[in-house]
Amino acid sequence: MTTTATVPPVPQVPSGPLLSAEGLHVTFPARRGDTAPARAVDGVDLDIRAGEIVALVGESGCGKTTLARSLLGLVPPTAGRVTFTGRPLDYSSRALKAYRKRVQLVLQDPSGSLNPRHTVYDAVAEGLRIHRYGGDEREAVSTALSRAGLRPPERFFLRYPHELSGGQRQRVVIAGALVLEPELIVADEPVASLDASVRGEILALLLRLRSELGLSALVVTHDLGLAWNIADRVAVMYLGRIVETGAVEDVLTAPQHPYTQALLSVLPEAPGDPVVLTGEPPDPSRIPTGCRFHARCQILATGEAERAGVADACRREDLPVLDGGGGAQVACHWARASAVR
Ligand SMILES: Nc1ncnc2c1ncn2[C@@H]1O[C@H](COP(=O)(O)OP(=O)(O)OP(=O)(O)O)[C@@H](O)[C@H]1O
Ligand code: SF4
Ligand SMILES: [Mg+2]
Repeated sequence: MTTTATVPPVPQVPSGPLLSAEGLHVTFPARRGDTAPARAVDGVDLDIRAGEIVALVGESGCGKTTLARSLLGLVPPTAGRVTFTGRPLDYSSRALKAYRKRVQLVLQDPSGSLNPRHTVYDAVAEGLRIHRYGGDEREAVSTALSRAGLRPPERFFLRYPHELSGGQRQRVVIAGALVLEPELIVADEPVASLDASVRGEILALLLRLRSELGLSALVVTHDLGLAWNIADRVAVMYLGRIVETGAVEDVLTAPQHPYTQALLSVLPEAPGDPVVLTGEPPDPSRIPTGCRFHARCQILATGEAERAGVADACRREDLPVLDGGGGAQVACHWARASAVR
């Protein structure tokens, strides 16, 4: 896989998760045409430790944004909980306001998240004003713009979003998140709308912020190559669950779950033939019994699961929620059976 960002040294990571999902479920009421509620997040355990970058990957509709929004307190869980520094989130508006100062969202589309009538200065200062910042606003805005790589910052103060490139707009969005000096950012597809040439720059910026400020991040992405470039740990999500998680090198060089294997097999650099997933695209209002991936699983379809003696279990038994912490973990009967042989 190609590396587009230069990776700075990883800082010492203190133990204990900063942000955790514990048995998290988010279910939306059935929409017209659906026969059942949508279990968009269906039992997720996930830890993000201080100074760590975790990539959350999976195909469209698997529940990444819903999980990210729930971690930010924007969507209350139907069951389970979110904890920050060991304490469960308090969903009162005052507590959520304080929480969102410490955990900031960076959205996918910089044009959509910047008001076209606001200057860069006002866009970045907005968070300070919402939180009634008592310090020197101009100084804080300058620092945030510099940290986001817009230098000299004064040159950008009076510009409007349409006067900036896509990469510069994304940096303004990042500056707007940084100005409140958060401990963690949740970035939902932070480079999806950018040209390949500026993607690497934005990824390098996120890595630099981690190394200089100790900032932690959850980066939501479709793109496994991006996860490889930026993350310490990766969590692969399928139909509302994390099906594989572990250190990036482990998961991306030796994937255990057939779904992760299929995602990796279609990357341009991947050796061998791509695995074309068959079956219906995943629908959270119709989660199958047994392994939720079984109707599309290439290992089951080719008889490998049968040969390993796990095919019945694949069709019958839902797999336990992964604990979301430390080492590589996989929610697959066949992968587990293969590991013990
Ligand atoms: N408010 C809602 N009401 C009902 N269903 C919803 C709602 N929001 C999301 N969903 C459904 O939940 C599932 C997960 O959506 P989500 O946006 O979290 O996926 P995603 O992984 O972020 O997808 P993408 O990669 O396309 O952004 C989808 O099937 C979606 O249609
Ligand atoms: S448990 Fe079975 S069906 Fe599910 S991914 Fe593993 S091999 Fe495939
Ligand atoms: Mg999304």
